[in-house]
Amino acid sequence: MNPIFANLPTSVFEVMSRLARETGAVNLGQGFPDDPGPEDVRRKAAEAVVEGWNQYPPMMGLPELRAAVATHYGRWQNLDLDPETEVMVTSGATEALAGALLALIEPGDEVVLFEPMYDAYLPLVRRAGGVPRFVTLQPPRFGLTEAALAQAFTPKTKVVLFNNPLNPTATVFSPEDLALLAQFCVRHDAVAVCDEVWEHVVFDGRRHQPLMALPGMRERTVKIGSAGKIFSLTGWKVGFICAAPALMRSLAKAHQFLTFTTPPNLQTAVAYGLAKEDAYFESLRRDLAYSRDRFTAGLQDLGFTVIPSEGTYFLNIDIRPLGESDDTAFCRRLVLDHGVAAIPVSAFYADGAVKNVVRFCFAKRDATLDAALERLAGVIRRAA
Ligand SMILES: Cc1ncc(COP(=O)(O)O)c(C=O)c1O
Repeated sequence: MNPIFANLPTSVFEVMSRLARETGAVNLGQGFPDDPGPEDVRRKAAEAVVEGWNQYPPMMGLPELRAAVATHYGRWQNLDLDPETEVMVTSGATEALAGALLALIEPGDEVVLFEPMYDAYLPLVRRAGGVPRFVTLQPPRFGLTEAALAQAFTPKTKVVLFNNPLNPTATVFSPEDLALLAQFCVRHDAVAVCDEVWEHVVFDGRRHQPLMALPGMRERTVKIGSAGKIFSLTGWKVGFICAAPALMRSLAKAHQFLTFTTPPNLQTAVAYGLAKEDAYFESLRRDLAYSRDRFTAGLQDLGFTVIPSEGTYFLNIDIRPLGESDDTAFCRRLVLDHGVAAIPVSAFYADGAVKNVVRFCFAKRDATLDAALERLAGVIRRAA
């Protein structure tokens, strides 16, 4: 067996979800919304299953979805993408990431990773033969610095894997951060693989800035999106990958032998959804920002220290003011003694460099959040 996967321990997500099920805890660990997703988009998928084509769709994706992705990013992010040569449909962002890393990395190439990072990144980079070089982001801002980038980039840097907005920290990187990263990519002739699945889930009037739009980045960026996050339909696993034709030719070869295609009916529904009026996307943000604000206020009233959430379904607390220094032990007690499941952010660092931050998913109904807050009051009483 290949040790990279064989030696991976059970993930903290599985552990916390199992404990939540066993104890009947309120599960704010896993990142999926209570919202069932827009009914018209779901009906479109159902119609397409019953009335439409259910055989292999084209390898690159349905032409109507590729056109919809290009139009959508033109409208929302001012990108000018050719649907024929620069857009491909994948089975979720996860497949897009795996394919991109397999296509771009040769054994021994260095890959710059920003921790905390999504759990799939490191095993996928290693399995592709990449050598990770970490930039360790620190709370509460989790921003980039010239010094941190300078120690991570080397003449061997081939790929930079960048997630913006960032899960788990709920950070939206600033224009200065993006400009700095673009400069390093250009200087080192590196390809940026940009995981932008949270691009629509940004708050307080923010507008997502794709790294691809920065000077020098158009030809060296692989932009990855996911319908799961745009439509609150995380189980659909319909993703898209955008890149200049020279990159896309290799990306398509990797996709060809990973999944080859993605269910055509879901592609039809996503094409319809991406063309929805601005009001849908605005209301998605508004509704999630409402839940963020409700949960933030509840936590602050109880006395928790909340790190501001700028995007994603998540917010984080700093547990140091509670006299705590081990997020994993804290989360175990939270689920076992108080009945609330959360995720220790140290799990997103390769060697657990930061141990004082705990992530909650707030994309839940009021009643769920209120039940969690009621239980969390017990943590403060015990700490007092
Ligand atoms: C940063 C990030 N990348 C990728 C994914 C996975 O996306 P998909 O479900 O489209 O594979 C997630 C899901 O939570 C995520 O947070």
